[in-house]
Amino acid sequence: MKLLILARPEDAVATCVTVIAKALVEKPNAVLGLATGGTMEPVYDGLVQRAKAGEISLARATSFNLDEYVGLSPEHPQSYHRFMQDRLFRPLALDPARTHLSRGDAADPVAEAARYDAAIAAAGGIDLQLLGIGGNGHIGFNEPSSSLASPTRVKTLARATRDANARFFGASEPIPRFAITMGIATILRSRHAVLLATGAQKAEAVAAMVEGPLSARCPASALQMHPRATVVLDAEAAAGLELRQYYETVHPEGQETSLD
Ligand code: F6R
Repeated sequence: MKLLILARPEDAVATCVTVIAKALVEKPNAVLGLATGGTMEPVYDGLVQRAKAGEISLARATSFNLDEYVGLSPEHPQSYHRFMQDRLFRPLALDPARTHLSRGDAADPVAEAARYDAAIAAAGGIDLQLLGIGGNGHIGFNEPSSSLASPTRVKTLARATRDANARFFGASEPIPRFAITMGIATILRSRHAVLLATGAQKAEAVAAMVEGPLSARCPASALQMHPRATVVLDAEAAAGLELRQYYETVHPEGQETSLD
């Protein structure tokens, strides 16, 4: 795991945007795995900014999002389809044929999950998988106890996840109980995994992911098995790391070193 620790959340976001931009420059037709959630909002703002400045292009990239709520149509304001449309796809006028999310409103969500994994494989697999982390250690919606060998499938959301995401829903709106999520095996097959975490509320999960045991108790700890995982943190999210001094010696101020 490569740990890049930046002082401020905006610095961590900028580093994450740079990692994605670099991947796109190296491979303009990259297959990107994308995430949603509050942490990702400034990342997409940064990508849109760089694309509009002509520094990068997503026009030839293909994307697959991590997850979608079961029961929500792509037009639903709280769906991840809408999140991506609003934040990235529409601002950059990306070809809808190249942007993929699983269909939360599929008549058979179980079959939809299997179709989605097959579509990722047919696209050649994911070059760069962007990830956030839940306060309970989830990646995608792989909640604690998820099989570390899981394919894309329907998962029941943890109470903590529904509570954390309640902020995106109106007071009288029901918060979905299920999601289709890329599995941990799907995520581990990506050629580069990039996880961004900011804020003190992520510190405990980050410490468990990086320094805790490899365990379904913290699904993100599966990234310890990933051959190329980059974890980008701000100081608050890094606060629980016992070996922080070492990580900062390897990558002072979150800078890349010439030797990986
Ligand atoms: C969303 C996703 C989730 C979030 C995580 C953190 O597509 O995969 O794992 O990354 O719940 O969410 P925020 O950034 O809102 O704290």
